Amino acid sequence: MQATAKAHTNIALIKYWGKRDEALILPTNNSLSLTLDGFYTKTTVIFKEELEEDIFSLDDELISGEQYRRVTVFLDLIREYAGKPNLYAEINSMNEVPTAAGFASSASGFAALAAAATKALGLTLTEHELSRLTRQGSGSACRSVYGGFAEWQKGMQNDGTDSYAVPIAPQDHWDIRVAAVVLDAKMKKVSSREGMKRTVDTSAFFKGWVDSIPHDLDLIKDGIENRNFEKVGQVAEANCLKMHATTLGAVPPFTYWHDSTMAVMQTVQAMRENGIPAYFTIDAGPNVKVLYLPEHEEKVQETLRNISGVTDVILSRSGQGVTYL
Ligand code: DP6
Repeated sequence: MQATAKAHTNIALIKYWGKRDEALILPTNNSLSLTLDGFYTKTTVIFKEELEEDIFSLDDELISGEQYRRVTVFLDLIREYAGKPNLYAEINSMNEVPTAAGFASSASGFAALAAAATKALGLTLTEHELSRLTRQGSGSACRSVYGGFAEWQKGMQNDGTDSYAVPIAPQDHWDIRVAAVVLDAKMKKVSSREGMKRTVDTSAFFKGWVDSIPHDLDLIKDGIENRNFEKVGQVAEANCLKMHATTLGAVPPFTYWHDSTMAVMQTVQAMRENGIPAYFTIDAGPNVKVLYLPEHEEKVQETLRNISGVTDVILSRSGQGVTYL
């Protein structure tokens, strides 16, 4: 009743921003991501008859509070599914995701947890089933089941049975790279969960966001298939800007951007004017991720490191899906 799994984080090129069901974590739009090799979580789950509650440690530290609650509530789903509602576990997770890089470690975390826990209980799930389950831990995590590019299909059913991610192109389809630009900005004040809820409930721009997604998806999937970097970059950058625009239309309005976020965005646009194709995307925090091709790695890295307010630049490639160790 023990298993270890490893899952990588992912960066959305078409963002998931808005839920139609908060309890089941069902999104209002499809999203599309690239799994990254540089950032992962490794999790061991050991179910033990003698335990009276779950014990969760992250990076060798015992976790309590909200983070613990999210993990046990998620494990309840798996226990239920396995017909073992009173069987608790020891969970040990190690994060190779520098929290400062502003990557949602919940994506790799819940994907690794879902894989390890189901395996430990002897359940055999297809990738679709694993993705659907993982979704209920954290939405964006359902895309981390796959390597390379994946699309989370929002689904139409109220019970979420058709809401899971599917592979779009495998890890080795295309050597596209991502630089995570770490800024000296403070931690985010509005979590992605809270931010997307406020946006759905109040943003004057939310409908425009949702309506624009199908066209963005068509364009980016064509770009990925044909390895058209400019096309993929343009769509991803514009999609990110639209997502962030919805936060300015919310009540009360908010933004995840800092001065240094803007500085990186402007530098990336200036790089393009100087003939270096690079595009940015930003999640629910101040840090920026920059897409580029291998031949421009040196120049992109050097340029990003020289921006004032940048404390680190972490380079990553296309990563693999969930693996069992
Ligand atoms: C901006 O997956 O962290 O990164 O489903 O509430 O756990 P919950 O939210 P989460 O939101 C991620 C939002 C995003 C865009 C994305 O990854 O698609």
